[in-house]
Amino acid sequence: MRLVMIGSGYVGLVSGACFADFGHEVICIDKIATKIESLERGEIPIFEPGLGPMVQSNLAAGRLRFTTDFTGPVAEADVVFIAVGTPSRRGDGHADLSYVHAAAREIARAMQGFTVVVTKSTVPVGTGDEVERIIREENPDADFAVVSNPEFLREGAAIADFKRPDRIVIGTEDPRAEKVMREVYRPLYLNQSPLFFCERRTSELIKYAGNAFLAMKITFINEIADLCEQVGADVQKVAKGIGLDRRIGDKFLHAGPGYGGSCFPKDTVALVKTAQDHDSPMRLVETTVAVNDTRKRAMARKVVAACGGDVRGKTLAILGLTFKPNTDDMREAPSLAIIQALQDKGATIRAYDPEGAEAAREMTSGVVFGKDPYEIADGADALVLVTEWDEFRALDFARLRGRMAQPLLVDLRNVYPAEEVERHGFRYVGVGRKP
Ligand code: UGA
Repeated sequence: MRLVMIGSGYVGLVSGACFADFGHEVICIDKIATKIESLERGEIPIFEPGLGPMVQSNLAAGRLRFTTDFTGPVAEADVVFIAVGTPSRRGDGHADLSYVHAAAREIARAMQGFTVVVTKSTVPVGTGDEVERIIREENPDADFAVVSNPEFLREGAAIADFKRPDRIVIGTEDPRAEKVMREVYRPLYLNQSPLFFCERRTSELIKYAGNAFLAMKITFINEIADLCEQVGADVQKVAKGIGLDRRIGDKFLHAGPGYGGSCFPKDTVALVKTAQDHDSPMRLVETTVAVNDTRKRAMARKVVAACGGDVRGKTLAILGLTFKPNTDDMREAPSLAIIQALQDKGATIRAYDPEGAEAAREMTSGVVFGKDPYEIADGADALVLVTEWDEFRALDFARLRGRMAQPLLVDLRNVYPAEEVERHGFRYVGVGRKP
């Protein structure tokens, strides 16, 4: 199969490399020439475990190629995936589809023979219809089918998610396209990953409904955590206790500083907008968005309270800045709002993150970045864990304590057992645990 990815960003690159690894012939296209040049040398612009070696080996095997040229690859392709960005539109929160529409126009002009055009980007319900209309308008004789095939990759675990997915959702009512998509995903199907075929609009909605549900699940346990603090219960045990019920499941029940990233915040807002436009408001999701937004600053208030009600003139050391571990992505990271709120209250912020410091530098001001947890702990009045990178799991608390002005640990991800930290003379404050 000859596959083309339009857009060599996160989704296009991971999917392209994985498809090539399964033996397909893949060409990844991007408009940014410098990005393509470095990808051709096997240099990866994002941090994603395992992606570099996979790109390099498939480049060497000739199954994966990168180019800025649109016409030739699309003309020869069996399947063209649209994997361009759909950022939140400034002002109204709707998904900005201008890149998707532009890609559809270019594909229409270049395609030859029966071509399956697949939207992999997260797009609102009805986008497939619009892509189909644009292609027909641009090239009335084109022989094609437009399919929805949403992506369920998690940053930091993208390769495993691609190769061993819970399901592959394919939205099409065209029998020829269905046959082609079965062939594209045959390696995964052989791996027993279920292919789920449905209508195109249903498939588009599955992506948003899935992300909104997960965002809601996280927000639910976060509110339970707040209640736990008031009534003297332990949120981790509540999560375990409810998670053992298989109808609920134990995943995505870790209380923390609120969800962030490039997907949940944007997709929940986009779903709310779509629902409002169709006069079918989704109040649970609206509330999820609002609760999650206020949570980030509430976490700053929690830190202030732990510091005795005032952080003016105090130095706080922040461990972990990215929206979650194993990524360098700072988009919508709770750390940003937390840091800003603490600075507003007069605190001096020091921070360390294994991969996110560079991006964080550009998105914050007045933060001093250190090279490891111990350096930023020097003279600090509190250590605040915001993102649970693995390397923070085995911190040397005795060494940290020796460097800090006050032995206080605020653990916004409930990584540590309170007793262990307290054994080293720290005061420990977690989330949804007894104070
Ligand atoms: C998410 C989905 O998990 C993927 O299935 C989906 O494909 C992707 O969005 C997307 O739409 O492209 P991702 O944003 O990479 O993936 O990250 P998650 O691992 O889902 O985490 C999202 C946020 O929720 C993070 O800020 C994380 O810290 C937070 N979270 C997650 C919690 O606070 N508690 C949890 O129990 C789980």
